[in-house]
Amino acid sequence: MSSPEKNITSVLKETRVFPPSADFVAASLVDAKERDRLAEWAKRDPDAFWAEQAKSLHWTKPWTQVLDWSNAPHAKWFVGGQLNASENCLDRHLTGPRKNKAAIIFEGEPGDTRTLTYQQLHREVCKFANALKLLGVGKGDRVTIYMPMVPEAAIAMLACARIGAMHSVVFGGFSADAVADRNNDAKSKIIITADGGWRRGKVVPLKANVDAALEKSPTVEKCIVLNRCNTAVEMKHGRDLWWHDLMAAGSQHCPAEPLDSEHPLFILYTSGSTGKPKGVLHTTGGYLLGSSLTHKWVFDLKEDDVYWCTADVGWITGHSYIVYGPLCNGSTIVMYEGAPNQPKEDRFWEIIEKYQVSVFYTAPTAIRAFIKWGDHHPKGHDLSSLRLLGSVGEPINPEAWMWYHKLIGGERCPIVDTWWQTETGAIMIAPLPGAIPTKPGSATKPLPGIEAEVVDKSGNAVPANSGGFLVVKRPWPSMMRTIYGDDERYKTTYWSHYDGIYFTADGARIDDDGYIWVMGRVDDVLNVSGHRLSTMEVESALVNHPKVAEAAVVGKPDDLKGEGIVCFVTLKQGNEPTDALKAELKAHVVHNIGALARPDDIKFTETLPKTRSGKIMRRFLRDVAAGRQSTGDATTLEDYTVLAKLREDEE
Ligand code: PRX
Repeated sequence: MSSPEKNITSVLKETRVFPPSADFVAASLVDAKERDRLAEWAKRDPDAFWAEQAKSLHWTKPWTQVLDWSNAPHAKWFVGGQLNASENCLDRHLTGPRKNKAAIIFEGEPGDTRTLTYQQLHREVCKFANALKLLGVGKGDRVTIYMPMVPEAAIAMLACARIGAMHSVVFGGFSADAVADRNNDAKSKIIITADGGWRRGKVVPLKANVDAALEKSPTVEKCIVLNRCNTAVEMKHGRDLWWHDLMAAGSQHCPAEPLDSEHPLFILYTSGSTGKPKGVLHTTGGYLLGSSLTHKWVFDLKEDDVYWCTADVGWITGHSYIVYGPLCNGSTIVMYEGAPNQPKEDRFWEIIEKYQVSVFYTAPTAIRAFIKWGDHHPKGHDLSSLRLLGSVGEPINPEAWMWYHKLIGGERCPIVDTWWQTETGAIMIAPLPGAIPTKPGSATKPLPGIEAEVVDKSGNAVPANSGGFLVVKRPWPSMMRTIYGDDERYKTTYWSHYDGIYFTADGARIDDDGYIWVMGRVDDVLNVSGHRLSTMEVESALVNHPKVAEAAVVGKPDDLKGEGIVCFVTLKQGNEPTDALKAELKAHVVHNIGALARPDDIKFTETLPKTRSGKIMRRFLRDVAAGRQSTGDATTLEDYTVLAKLREDEE
């Protein structure tokens, strides 16, 4: 991960402040006084603080040590303790009034609906866990899950957790090659998929992608297929099995395996600036505590809330705030399969009205799309059931925040802007909504127990309102444990910039009131629609096209997606830069990575700006892509004329 060449300058100034209403504060789980008490306690005696919080989980064996940091940066939390994530999310709700409470209210894109109570969900998970066991899946084995947003995705995850297998969920928008890469990196034994999933009225052919992926995934022995869309798929004899056949045969009795607190729960791949995607590894006890505690605190959880997080289970937000956090807390969640504009642009508001959603958690990129589609869509629905709104994935522009506040929140719902990462496992910086007045565009303050700071290149805290790097100074329970199969990369990426301090690769500033304003990534990682994509992966996909010699990929500001993808491409001799080739290269990237990486623009160029040592200077390309003048230091540029030429091409 490259460090920026100079400190960051912050330009955003925002002065509006929105305190929660007196009613909201009176009913809140954590008010300002309680938050201060928790934060002070966590600072004074972190072990005692976390030990107390961890009592909220069901442990089958108590731990003997809260944190072992003696082998930093490898943390062990709740050492010696044993528990099972699936038991915490299911079994313990079955002995009281939550037994017949709705766990998952599912709405399919075509309009089909299904509700699973905690008891029903438990039964499905047990049956599927037994099916996995019959197929030889055991503790520590890796299972790839490549599914649409249907309850079976959560059932598959919880079944893995129940028997101690590690799941690796791959977002359904990724291509066959991306699935194969992740299968191979994790050495997955089994893949679970569906014939397809519904997206904008069409079926995404998941099984066909898996068939292609499995030609290049030698470790995968079996493929389990859910029949979601009733489409014809090829079932390979001896390898492919129907979900419903396995479930019909499976016993519904499956005790949860007691697992060490540090037993791996899952791998989730995320993009870095160099090399292949990183398999972020999370373990059981700390992760479950982080996701459940933050879900309770940040969403000010009430027993009768109807909670809807619009993320996909293929991302960390889906892991922590659709599956593990909410189910561990015994919440009722809404799960929606499809697109927000199917059949019309008011689908989300229709769902909120239909299920009386009270807490709604979405991403700025979605909010910008709603703004574009027009106010009449939300205005046409009764959204009065909402009491709290959330945002995640990228900085939210103050104007989008104001629209969300007015049009969706009816000016009465606090907005929790939540900063965190795949690596942090759980929300790190966010308002506790009854305790902290919000400011549009700021995630406000670190949660109690989280020592986030903004520092300069040498690791010193920067003065108020100066830009710097966001770091975390103390380990926290839901932190990643390593990069699966590449511990060296874990150490260099996150822990080599500052001694004993976690480097987030985000820029930020702290204002006079101690509020943190996150400004985005400082490395070569794109944030497209709230999802991290590595420039390097897109470049590799381009370069493996036979006509491409070299490629550099950068982001440019995009009103809707946050960042759009611009590719600068040099062609091998004898190839003509044509529009047809542009279209071909775009399709090539989609084929290699998935539709989420589709380039917005391809620019052919004869050369790329490079340092004397041959490194592509992407910051200049970012300026060209955004139509800005370059202000930074250009002295290391090998050939000045390259930049002038690129700009000419733009005009
Ligand atoms: O740059 C930050 C941005 O998203 C990155 C993490 O991406 P990922 O691991 O894919 O996880 C996304 C969901 C947690 C961060 O390093 N980011 C996420 N949330 C915010 C944010 N930037 C500003 N404000 C946020 N609330």
